[in-house]
Formats: sequence, structure tokens, C-alpha cells
Amino acid sequence: MKYDLEPRGWIVAEETFDPCRTAKCESIFAQGNGYINIRCALEEGYLDTYRGAFITGTFNKAMPDEVTELPNLPDVTAMEFIVNGERFAMDQGTLQSYLRTLDLHTGEATRTVQWKSPAGAALELTFRRFVSLDNEHIAAFSVEVTPTNQDIELVVNSGISTRNSNTGSQHCVEGEMRMLPGGILRLMTHTNESNVPISVHCLHKFSAKPSESLPVIERRRFVGRYTFRLAKGQTLRIEKLTCYHTGRDLPFTVYGQQRGTTNPDIVAAAGDALAAKFADTGYDALLAASAKKWAAYWAEQDVQIESDDSFDQLGMRFALYHLNIMIKRDDDRVGIGAKGMTGEGYKGHSFWDTEMFLMPYYLLTDPAAAKTLLGYRWRSLPGAFKKASENGYQGAMFPWESAWLDDGEVTPLYCGADIVTGKSSPVLTGMIEQHISADIAWGVWLYYQATGDDDFMNRRGCELLIEIARFWASRVEWQDDTQRYEIKNVIGPDEYKDHVDNNAFTNYLTVFAMEQAERCIKDMPTQWPDAYAKLSDSYDLNALAAELQDKKAKVYLPQPNADGIVPQNAQYLGLDAIDLSKYKNQQGVSSIYEDYSPAQMNQLMVSKQADLVMLMRIMPDLFDAETRRKNFIFYESRTLHDSSLSHGQHCVLAAWEGLDDMALDMYRHAIAIDLGPNMKSSDLGIHSASMGNVWQCVVCGFAGLEWHEGGLSLRNHLPASWQRAAFNIVWRGAKLHVEVTHAGITVTHRGGSAVEITVDGQPVKLAAE
Ligand code: BGC
Repeated sequence: MKYDLEPRGWIVAEETFDPCRTAKCESIFAQGNGYINIRCALEEGYLDTYRGAFITGTFNKAMPDEVTELPNLPDVTAMEFIVNGERFAMDQGTLQSYLRTLDLHTGEATRTVQWKSPAGAALELTFRRFVSLDNEHIAAFSVEVTPTNQDIELVVNSGISTRNSNTGSQHCVEGEMRMLPGGILRLMTHTNESNVPISVHCLHKFSAKPSESLPVIERRRFVGRYTFRLAKGQTLRIEKLTCYHTGRDLPFTVYGQQRGTTNPDIVAAAGDALAAKFADTGYDALLAASAKKWAAYWAEQDVQIESDDSFDQLGMRFALYHLNIMIKRDDDRVGIGAKGMTGEGYKGHSFWDTEMFLMPYYLLTDPAAAKTLLGYRWRSLPGAFKKASENGYQGAMFPWESAWLDDGEVTPLYCGADIVTGKSSPVLTGMIEQHISADIAWGVWLYYQATGDDDFMNRRGCELLIEIARFWASRVEWQDDTQRYEIKNVIGPDEYKDHVDNNAFTNYLTVFAMEQAERCIKDMPTQWPDAYAKLSDSYDLNALAAELQDKKAKVYLPQPNADGIVPQNAQYLGLDAIDLSKYKNQQGVSSIYEDYSPAQMNQLMVSKQADLVMLMRIMPDLFDAETRRKNFIFYESRTLHDSSLSHGQHCVLAAWEGLDDMALDMYRHAIAIDLGPNMKSSDLGIHSASMGNVWQCVVCGFAGLEWHEGGLSLRNHLPASWQRAAFNIVWRGAKLHVEVTHAGITVTHRGGSAVEITVDGQPVKLAAE
């Protein structure tokens, strides 16, 4: 990879080509707009190619024994180039030069290649592509081909294919293919179980007229075959303009009918109308419109970093690029996948990653977008009710992995090999990683702190809090011997450990969720009367408040032991310590599973990711300063950071603790998760939560942003090797610009309401304007 091209801090580049390692760049160069995401698979395809086009919300269950997942939709990226009868492929003939870039500022990816075919025809090729931020349905491609040492015959096969699958599982039926007037290729298909109609259109435009042009319909593939005779030095430009529509698109959804339309004609008509307009436009005009939207995004959202290493800045912008394309900001029927939509990893499902790792970014930069994420949880209540009742509980037990709104739990049951039994390892998170329900309550609390949005509380927030608290009230277990409520048999954030009791993170968050609901019941009649009217129709709220008050006071909250260490769970401090250096220095992930089975891991004092540290991160005032520091050091030394969620949160805490070198090291590890030298790290998609973490490292860590009940504070923790960090945030309607240097923190009010915040310990009032 190459990260120092000009303009510095904006260009992610690959300068060598390896046909066995193409998938990482497909993911990190993926392009999208929250509606669609297209992996940046090379047109001609290689051994390691995983083509992928994903549209938000189109979930489908390919086979009865599989879980629902985000389907890999028809592909438009494949193009074949036959030069004098030889197929263009960079692993054949001679590759004389190669450079591939993603310009984060415009969202355009380019590839320039000089190549000589085995028989000696030399070509220069330039490939460019983008997915539009201006019109979410459009993706466009441009290819320039110049023969440099002889005249050639060039045959181009390009169109649409339904040969894509999710690693073998086929979601789309073969569909109906036809050519429309004007040479537009159209493919209509639908998902085989959820019956979501999908239309894909594409139009090719050429700078020279093909000598022959033929529509070719094959099994699951519809291409145009175009033949050209090019003179030496003549450049042919091919433009491929495409658009996607599905029955789940917002315009086809009437409020309350969350699934949209299953009528393929409506979807086809929308695609036909847009594709017809392609005749009057071209790649450059469409790109300009999209780049303008990108420029507006950067003008508002850029986080500027001046440091002795320009990779620090690039890593941040890379995160911001993906944060912008992983969310559909106007649609609260859909969440954010753990890989965004940049690959099949985690099946497009949403996890606690959303509230804990991603939401802070959206909330402090575009609160309306954060509201849609909580809206997605509110609309998912039917699935959470289903899960609770299936497990004998009340209220809302949110799925660990979520897909479509009423799917309920969609965590797969098996994954990976157990090194001891040789069988597939069972995945228990869907059954017992339950803290997600409390995490969502925390998200509601944070949203309200940052916005004071009473309308949201009235319509959705209170209901979420009440239903979540009802779940926890039915979940906690009374222990006669200890005379307290405990929460047994769970998985905490540290997924190396299953069937643990009293995971501190889970227990503290449970009490927090109960407290918030109890407060909400108290405030509702005056503050949120509509919510009160609705919920008091369903429940005896006074009785519920009394129950919550009683139970929350009796839930066991783990305290520091004689050495000052808070037990992560009841078992942890009694486990066997082993030498972790081998795994701490691992290049990839999960290498410890090559030596130990999940059952054996339960006996080892080793953590996958921030667990107690995560608790101290989101509730920094739980313990005194000495206890916090001691526990941070104790648990970090036993943590393998085997989840992309881990480094970033450790960075924040390390910065707060004044462990400057460690904080910067953690930041650089966080940006290296996807951009680092490991060429297999991101094959199945980028790590969404890590993108949110990167933002949190700088804003919450180095600029020390903390949120409190009704307040916001900043504290200067700028790394010594950085000169400046600057960013915009929104807090309670005030738009603020924050600059952090070693001289201090400057906050400029950019508009909106007046606000009071705390800067380096000093309360300050910022008047409107
Ligand atoms: C982590 C979880 C996370 C999931 C999706 C797992 O490896 O342990 O905490 O939610 O990945 O990102």
C-alpha cells in the first residue's frame, strides 16, 4: 500500500499487484452512499476476487437452515477485454506499471496500468469509477484503452450478472434479461425468500463506434459484446452508466408498511426512467455532481490532524469516508452492518457496534442521523419482543445480531473450527450476549443528553427505555444465599468467555437501564405526555417504577477487591494466567484459537477486547482515579485486542490516563486494522466500529471530549508529536468548531443555540453566533 501520494492525507493507494491478494483493496476502496455499496473488484477478475454489491435492507434467507443476510446483488463491475484474441489479465503477459488509488475527497477510484499481452500487444489502460453521492441509485465506470505499439482488435464483454453469491449461497433468482430502446441492458430479479424485486440497468457509451455490437444472454449473465478496431495511439473511452432499484427503496414504502413493494413493475419503471436519462449525460457530469456532495461533506466533517506522520491524518479521513458511506441517513428501517456494506462479513447484521462505537460520531456531527439509528431499534421492537417471549422474559430483549425489523435474533449458530473436537464451534452470542439491550438504553440516554429532543422521547425514546427495563426486570435472578439479584450465564463484551456470571459491564449497564426507565416514568406525565398516555394504557407504570426501584438497588455490582481490581466476571480472577506475548504480537486475528478450543479459553485469564475497560470508558466516574488506572493496566495487559472494537477504546482511556505514548500507539493500531500491511485483514469487509473508534480516539481521547448528564467537556490530551487537531461538533443545537494545540483548546461558536460547556476544567458560556 502507498499512503504518501499528493494531495497528502487524501489518497489511499496500492502500487503493486498481487492476484492472490486483491480482496483487501476491494473492501477498503469500496464505494457507496448508504443505500448501495459496491466492492472495488477489478473489472477482469482474479483468484481472490469477491465481487459484491449490497443494498441496505434487502435481507434474505437463501436456504431454510441459514440465517437471513444482506444478499450479494447482481454485479456490474465485471468487464472482459479481449485483445487480438488474448484476455487482458495482469497476471498474464507483462505488467509494466500499476497504480490504484481511492481519492477520499471525491470518492473516485482509479487504476492506471501499462501492460503487454503474451503475444506482445502493449496497452495503456485507465479505469475510473464511483458510486454517486448525488443520486443514490447510480454507479458509473469509465475505461480508456490505448494500444501503444500496434493496431489491435478489442472485444469488450460488459453488462450485468446474477452469478454473485454470498460465498456460495444464492439469494437472487436468475431473473429476466432484456434490451430496452437505446441499447440499455436491463436485468430484473428478486430475492428468493423475502421476495424483494431488484432491477439493474446499464448503458454503455463509446468514444468510437463499435464495428460490431451484440446483446448476449447467457445463464445468469447479460452482456453487450462490442468489437473495436483501434489504431496504434488511438484512445477508446468506454463509459458504463448503471443504476439499481429495489422494492425496499424508501419511495416504495408507505409509513407502516415497512417492507415496501413486491411489485416488480413499479421497480422496473423507476429504473427504466432513470436509465433513459443516461442518454443525455455522461461519466464526467455524474462524477462532478457526486464530487460536489463529497466536497460539502468534507467542508463540514473533516477532522484535521497535523502530526509528524501524515498517516495519522489519512487514517482519520479514511474512517470518515467509510462513516459517510455506511449509513443511510434518511431511513430508520435499516441499521449499520459490522462491515458496513463493504463485504459479506457478519452478513450485513448490526451489533452493539452501532450504539457504543458508531453513534457518538453521528450524534455529535449529524444528530438526525443518530436518531435514525435509534429509530431502527424502535422499529425492531417486534423482533425484540419475539426474542424475549421465546426465552421466557418480558419486554424487549434485543437480538445480538439484527437484520430486518421483525426478524428477531439472526446470529448464526456455528462458526469456525474447534481445534480440540474438530467440529464447528457453536456461536453462543445470540443466546447469551445480552448486554446489547442495556447498550441501546445507554444510546437513548446519550442521544437525549446531546439533543434534548423531547419529541423523540415522546414518540420513541420512552418506549424503548420502558421495554428494555421490563426485560431486565424479568431477567435478573434473585439469590437467596446472597440476598441480591444476579445476572448469570452471560457473555460480556469479552467474547473469549462464555457462560460467565455477573459480568461487571452487563450488571452496571442493567442498573443504568433500570434507572433511566424509572426516571423516565417519573418525568413522563409532564415532559413526555404522549408517551405517558400510550404506555400507561399498556402498563401500570407506578407498579413498574416501584419494581425497578427495588430491583436496581439489589442488583449485584462488582466492586474492587483487596488489590483494587474489579472482577470482570465472577470467574475471571481465578483463571490460569499464560504467556500471551505470542498472541499479542499476532499479525492476523484469532490466532489463539489455533492453540486452544473455546472450552479451554474459558479457563484462561485472557480477554479478547475491552470489557471492564469499556465499562470504565463509558462510565468514567464509577471508580476513583487510582482504581480506574490500576484496572486499565491490569486488563489491558491481559487483552489481545482480537476485535477491531478494542484498540480505539483503549486509546481513549489511555489518553485520559495521560499514557500518551500508549494512546498514540493504540490510535495507530486502530487505523492499521484496515490500512495496515496485513493484506488479508479486510477481505470480508472493512471494520465499521473501528471507523467510529478512530473518530473517538481523536475527539474523545486526544481532545478529551466527555458527555455528562446535560453537559459536555473537553480536556487537552494532544499527543506530543501532534501539532494540532481540529473538528466540528454539534451539542444541544450549538454548532461548535474545536481546535486543540499545545497552547490550549479554542472553541468557536458557529451558529445555533447558546451553550455552556467545560473546557480544561473551566465552565464557559458560548453565546449564539
Ligand atoms: C466482537 C463483537 C462485535 C462483533 C461485530 C466481534 O468480534 O467481539 O464485540 O460486536 O465482532 O463487530
